[in-house]
Amino acid sequence: MSVELRIESHPILDGFNKGELVEFEFDGRKMTGYDGEPIAAALKAAGVMVHRYTVKRKEPRGVSCAIGRCTDCVMVVDGTSNVRTCITALKAGMKVRTQYGFTEVRDS
Ligand code: FES
Repeated sequence: MSVELRIESHPILDGFNKGELVEFEFDGRKMTGYDGEPIAAALKAAGVMVHRYTVKRKEPRGVSCAIGRCTDCVMVVDGTSNVRTCITALKAGMKVRTQYGFTEVRDS
């Protein structure tokens, strides 16, 4: 059974534009998503649920509020930490990394 996980609409990002299918990289793996959709939407469609691990307890976090308020979805995007992927548009060639604490480097 196949389940479609792609987010097609958003209560805050009214009518985000879904452009052409483009390639991007997630933790070194090639993936595809639509240009202009939130990075988080492309990741959800690919089945990725964990975006970061907390600093102290190293607990996994993913999309929670989906409107740019909580920071649970932050990731390292093109070398920049703390990017809110639920409100950041996907572009071709982006390098998206799981965030461990404040960086893309797992410390243990
Ligand atoms: S899910 Fe809350 S800021 Fe992105």
